[in-house]
Amino acid sequence: MSIAATHMTTITDSLLAELLSAARRARVRAYAPYSRFSVGAALLDNLGRIHLGCNVENAAYPQGQCAEATAIGALVMAGGLRIHAAVVVGVADEPVTPCGGCRQRLREFAADDCPIWVADLDHLRGHYTLGQLLPYSFGPNHLRA
Ligand code: THU
Repeated sequence: MSIAATHMTTITDSLLAELLSAARRARVRAYAPYSRFSVGAALLDNLGRIHLGCNVENAAYPQGQCAEATAIGALVMAGGLRIHAAVVVGVADEPVTPCGGCRQRLREFAADDCPIWVADLDHLRGHYTLGQLLPYSFGPNHLRA
């Protein structure tokens, strides 16, 4: 079995509500003067703690960082080892799903069954697993042969 397969955490309605409001709070911190597209992310770690991130853009555009990447850095700095749930908040016509690069970043710390919710300021807009967003993924287990 892949090392990415961890125990699924039950996300209660109240925990989801907490993750949602935390991601919305994080979004307010976005530094996005170029795109004007603010994103917030909240990650639940293996100890039940919530870590937050916002996107941080840069005048040298490719150096900008997504909200998920910021949140992963916060999780790692706090000693978190695994991601058991993620919420991403952005405002657009379509649900703001994690970009391809962030799907891979999340995959480093999350199992295929890790739930990912996306939301805007008022509503949940989508609910996926990481495996749905990034099927047949490459991960740490590939390097352990
Ligand atoms: N962005 C994120 O923060 N997360 C995503 O998954 C999608 C895109 C940010 C990057 C950039 O600052 C802005 O949204 C527009 O692409």
